[in-house]
Amino acid sequence: MMMTDRIGILTGGGDCPGLNAVIRAVVKAAARHGWETIGIEDGFEGLLEPPRYRKLAVSDLNGLLFRGGTILGTTNRGVFTTKVGIGEIRRVPEAILAQAKNSIESLGLRCLVVVGGDGSLTIAQQLHEYGVPVVGIPKTIDNDLEATQVTFGFDSAVACAVEALDRLHTTAQSLGRAMVLEVMGRYAGWIAIHAGLAGGADVILLPEMPFNYESILAKIIDRRREGKDFTVLIVSEGAHQQGGEYVTQGPAELNGEVRLGGIGSQVAEEIERRTGQESRAVVLGYLQRGGMPTPVDRQLCTRFGVSAVDFIACERFGCMTALQNQEICPVTIKEAVGRLRTVPPEGELVRTARALGISFGCEVASID
Ligand code: F6P
Repeated sequence: MMMTDRIGILTGGGDCPGLNAVIRAVVKAAARHGWETIGIEDGFEGLLEPPRYRKLAVSDLNGLLFRGGTILGTTNRGVFTTKVGIGEIRRVPEAILAQAKNSIESLGLRCLVVVGGDGSLTIAQQLHEYGVPVVGIPKTIDNDLEATQVTFGFDSAVACAVEALDRLHTTAQSLGRAMVLEVMGRYAGWIAIHAGLAGGADVILLPEMPFNYESILAKIIDRRREGKDFTVLIVSEGAHQQGGEYVTQGPAELNGEVRLGGIGSQVAEEIERRTGQESRAVVLGYLQRGGMPTPVDRQLCTRFGVSAVDFIACERFGCMTALQNQEICPVTIKEAVGRLRTVPPEGELVRTARALGISFGCEVASID
């Protein structure tokens, strides 16, 4: 492909704090190379012919560092969808890839920066194999990409969950209740374990460690013996009972992944049924994805954005920016996709929590 002085950027998948901070960094860094940046609208859908885009000038970037959402729009549904189930990857239809490639060529883009999680990066890899120069930036509040120590958006989601736990603590304590907070994370429990440790949860339920109710009840009884009549639980949306299924909001939609959710209220109802203690559940949901990025996310987004432009300058196409050993480095998107990072059940985070007496809902054998 001819080297032009124009690059493109799109944001794919769910919204996430820090998307605008990445856009800002890319536009600013590109301008220093003398390149113009155009933003593709509504994720990959904006690449369908005729392409939908807008020019992004350095003068348009005021306030973007801390503004939530994405000024370009995004989607985690539609004709480009590649992830439709756990480990199930679909190929983007050839006619759609061809339209995207034509759009990129007609816009004269030197490279397309794709900001997204595993699903969007899988699409980026397919585009790359189809002859489109791409560079990826890892986004997801779930923090579930093996190739990078951390994704942007995660720190902001954890901060939101910790604030919720702090608030639930005071109400649990005042009323002597069990309060259950259900958090996102899909099949990885990173948000739950980080927020659970930072927010002083008594019970943390993770997708990686199926639970039983006997263990949760044992923890509640232990706390009563210590004179504590309230319990705060954080439950990952992918947590499930031993031998049980994920709790979902219905079957997978066409061109979309199955929506997890509902385990929090099941746990609260079961605690109340088995102990008689009043219990309530809160689903934190989209609050975790909305609003301002934290300072940690803002600096990470800035580093990711600048390094993506560096990769374009060195023609490292097909690469994604990653953080490893606190340093930014390139990894191939091919290596990065389809490799989920999950919480190791014997890892240091779990051991630390256990050392405090936090229950993972699997300490005693189930009698069910
Ligand atoms: O992957 C990010 C995430 O927020 C997950 O934690 C959650 O399961 C999912 O997206 C929700 O997606 P949707 O926007 O389709 O409801």
